[in-house]
Amino acid sequence: MAVKISPSVLSANFANLKADVKRFEKVGTDMLHLDVMDGIFVPNISFGMPVISAIKKHTNVTLDVHLMIDRPHRYIEDFAKAADYLGFHFEAGSPVEETLKKIRELGCKSCLTIKPCTAPEEIFHLLPLCDMVLVMSVEPGFGGQKFMPEALGKLEALKKEILRQGLDVLLEIDGGINAETAPLAVEAGADVLVAGSYLFTDDMEERMAYLKSL
Ligand code: DX5
Ligand code: ZN
Repeated sequence: MAVKISPSVLSANFANLKADVKRFEKVGTDMLHLDVMDGIFVPNISFGMPVISAIKKHTNVTLDVHLMIDRPHRYIEDFAKAADYLGFHFEAGSPVEETLKKIRELGCKSCLTIKPCTAPEEIFHLLPLCDMVLVMSVEPGFGGQKFMPEALGKLEALKKEILRQGLDVLLEIDGGINAETAPLAVEAGADVLVAGSYLFTDDMEERMAYLKSL
């Protein structure tokens, strides 16, 4: 299966989001990655539901929402109105099984996300409730950070377990993806690459083509 690319809108020009969304459509993106930060679960604040619903009005591209908020179950119903994949953090203080089930009930694909401090084994029993698992390869909160190679072993372990359980779960990686780290992530089992700062350059078209070729 060809690798899918989910550019992080966090690196876009917030004063002209529509133009950046159209730019991504033009270079053939598979998804758009939307980072929601609350200043509590992570030390940064980004954007919330009004921005995501505004984006949704202008695109049919799959919306991949990454909630980095405290006790995300409180907001699942709101975000489910716009998200295709709705992801939240295992560490964020929500009842995890219940929240994953709720996301599916609301008609979205569920995505469980783990920070660098979480071992993959901790979520093995939850894989049947996931449509996607997001492995963070940086501490969540900011774009433009350096890739943590420990994430590769986590992808491998999760891939092996997904196959062992006979499941259909996508593996996504987020943080520090660039020309050097992307092939390593794909080799380790990533199905979806999130890329922010690497893609938002004048070379977006070439870089997207390169990532898609992996
Ligand atoms: C970080 C976010 C990422 C971020 C990735 O907490 O979850 O999606 O935008 O940015 P890069 O690709 O620049 O590391
Ligand atoms: Zn993200």
